[in-house]
Amino acid sequence: MTQIHGIILAAGKGTRMNSSKPKVLQILSDKTLLGHVLAQAQQLCSKVHVVYGFGGDQVRQHINDDSVNWVEQANQLGTGHAVQQAMPHIDDDSISLILYGDVPLIEQATLNNLITQAQKSDISLLSVILDNPSGYGRIIRDNNQIQAIVEQKDANKEQLAICEVNTGIMAVNSSLLKTYLDGLDSNNAQGELYLTDIIAMAVNDGKTIASVITDNEFEVAGVNDKIQLAELERTLQQNQATRFMQQGLGLKDPARFDCRGSLSFGQDCEIDVNVVVEGEVTLGDNTTIAPNCVIKNTTIGSNVSILPNSVIEDAVIGNGASIGPFARIRPEANIGENAKIGNFVEVKKSTIGKGSKVSHLSYVGDTTMGSDVNIGAGVITCNYDGANKHQTTIEDGAFVGSDTQLIAPVTIGKNATIGAGSTITKDVPENQLSLSRSKQTTLKNWQRPTKK
Ligand code: UD1
Ligand code: CA
Repeated sequence: MTQIHGIILAAGKGTRMNSSKPKVLQILSDKTLLGHVLAQAQQLCSKVHVVYGFGGDQVRQHINDDSVNWVEQANQLGTGHAVQQAMPHIDDDSISLILYGDVPLIEQATLNNLITQAQKSDISLLSVILDNPSGYGRIIRDNNQIQAIVEQKDANKEQLAICEVNTGIMAVNSSLLKTYLDGLDSNNAQGELYLTDIIAMAVNDGKTIASVITDNEFEVAGVNDKIQLAELERTLQQNQATRFMQQGLGLKDPARFDCRGSLSFGQDCEIDVNVVVEGEVTLGDNTTIAPNCVIKNTTIGSNVSILPNSVIEDAVIGNGASIGPFARIRPEANIGENAKIGNFVEVKKSTIGKGSKVSHLSYVGDTTMGSDVNIGAGVITCNYDGANKHQTTIEDGAFVGSDTQLIAPVTIGKNATIGAGSTITKDVPENQLSLSRSKQTTLKNWQRPTKK
């Protein structure tokens, strides 16, 4: 097999982003623009070279990938000049696959096709047919064979009418590429070294140019400003939603669902509107997610109901559990089978046992809770003394009355009952009622103050 070297051009500043970040570090879904292109390139290239310029340190640091060969292009003298910078690192008998750091949605199938064509010829070129070709390099054909690419600024009237345009993405026999890059000059309207000029040079030498035309404009769409960034975000989300639905996921409205990461799911899961999934999320079978939930890096079992407006991060939710509405499940929460976490409940770094219920207005942190525990409304585990965090243990079958504070470290014994309104500072024995309450008194002659 011929080795494939990926060359990603990423030296542009991206002035129209109006951002302190280099353009290729703008975020699309779960990755930077460059991150998307790198991920595609790395699937089929033995080596990937990134040509960077503006904000180079920031780009390298952010991408933080030792397998990438970073090549600096100090001055941007054109796409041909950019590719030249990478050539000393490229084997002659390889194929160079040229990609762009700001064209993030290129797909494997298209690249594979391009490489297959390049193996059978000398150069293969990816083009697209646009209703409005303005600004792009035009593909000049004769007898259907590609002859040259003419840039907008260098084109005559006849050429400007051509709707087939250069995407810039191509696969080229590397030794030929080296030869033709060495022969480039800047005798053109922009005074740049045009990569596109290698086409006419190759045709002159009798080389064959293979053509791949993509039907998907989004695959070759570049991102220059935040409007285009938002457009591609929608495209990515729509495409992904379509794939998920084909695999059986129920989406109430695919236009109001965002997955910035990876989602796997069993059968008959349903996701309602305005749900955002981030990182790695797994759903079992028959699980439903109600509107306005944000779920990040979480494993959710089968038959789970996530009710509206819940926020869940780095957690595990057991089969049959019910979460929300308005619940906040924070990192290292492990919610057991058939457990119930109700409204305005926050759970952090805690295990909630099978069938236990925390139904209303509670904070449960640094807690190990057994099974079939009932936590009344407004119970707080006071886990923080201002300096350190302390552990609370609540054993199986305990019943904690409403508005109780459990001052950690503290253990509540099996089947213990705690009277409402208690402040528990000492361990509570099993099977008995414990409470801390000042006696209720009524002052006979007390009167409300009156306004003077
Ligand atoms: C280029 C093509 C044009 C094609 C269009 C597709 C050339 C001469 N023209 O035009 O045929 O239709 O892309 O979008 O190739 N870059 C560098 N260093 C440079 C110059 C550019 O890294 O010195 C990078 C840019 O960051 C950008 C990409 O190359 O990602 C394309 O550069 P740009 O100036 O946008 O190319 P166009 O003039 O639009
Ligand atoms: Ca240009």
